[in-house]
Amino acid sequence: MKQTLSPAVPYQKKDLWISQFAHDVTLGLSQHPKSVPSRYFYDKEGDKIFQQIMNMPEYYITSCEHDIFMQQGKKMCQVFHEPGETFNLIEFGAGDGYKTKVLLKKLLEDEADFTYNPVDISKNILEELNTNLKNELPGMKVRPLNMEYFSALSKLSELNTRRNVVLFLGANIGNFSREAAGNFLSRISWYCKPGDLLLLGADLKKDPQIISLAYNDPHGITAAFNLNLLQRMNRELGADFDTNSFVHHTFYEPQSGEVLSYLVSLRRQTVRFAHINMEVSFEAFESIHTETSRKYSLSELEELAADQGFEVLEHFSDERNYFVDSLWKIR
Ligand code: AVI
Repeated sequence: MKQTLSPAVPYQKKDLWISQFAHDVTLGLSQHPKSVPSRYFYDKEGDKIFQQIMNMPEYYITSCEHDIFMQQGKKMCQVFHEPGETFNLIEFGAGDGYKTKVLLKKLLEDEADFTYNPVDISKNILEELNTNLKNELPGMKVRPLNMEYFSALSKLSELNTRRNVVLFLGANIGNFSREAAGNFLSRISWYCKPGDLLLLGADLKKDPQIISLAYNDPHGITAAFNLNLLQRMNRELGADFDTNSFVHHTFYEPQSGEVLSYLVSLRRQTVRFAHINMEVSFEAFESIHTETSRKYSLSELEELAADQGFEVLEHFSDERNYFVDSLWKIR
């Protein structure tokens, strides 16, 4: 499950106590242009559809990172620790652990002494992962942390003086604005200590057609993922979106490196939100911005690292240079 950076506390709107989701939807849909944060893709249904996205051939990201770990994981793991050193392996947004398990297996083969700390705000996902790891990698020390990313980091840094190796994999950094990415990384370097490591996954700039196809697949899976946001508002906020009157639209802008995703209203319409006593009007072809997926160049990543107090140790890329897992050290 993706990280919600602000806590899921209720907010007061007029006489109603409403959730963080309701608050963010109210805010995003009352602005021009309209938007809803992409973190709300990931309810139970969205998690399932995202799983399908990761399995489709057009979404090369998952298989690229899996290949990088299969082929270069051993070398990577050797940098994680000195021989005989005990360390914490902390993963933000661990999900089902499909790719991480490749690294975990390599560390176990090397008889590395570590505790794996998957961090997620979804208790269900962590429980599933924990059970799964107990069966597949018995004997590995696992400490699931059901909390926000930085609460987990501050807890770990208070508890011990071991080296921390933080994993932030997939292309998750791409869903942050440049400013948010910088803030996120500077908070990691603030909570960790010199010598701690970060393995950061990032999707690289490449032939625009390849990127476009990954977000506009012929199976309609990404469209269903985007449209699920409307269904989620119907389920949780009592909205009456007619999902047939919106279309998924996405394009890649090669200069900014951004894939921008929208839901476009095909007609003029008004949507009611029964649970929060709200109405939202759409002009014909008015859109809701739902996601930005940023692609990086290696030099942009290096600049980001330097700006936030990291030294780049090595870039691990796949054969086609589609994706990179970049290993950084805190200075
Ligand atoms: C989770 N995140 C890195 C994905 C991405 O590529 O931006 C979410 C996604 N959106 C459409 N397809 C996948």
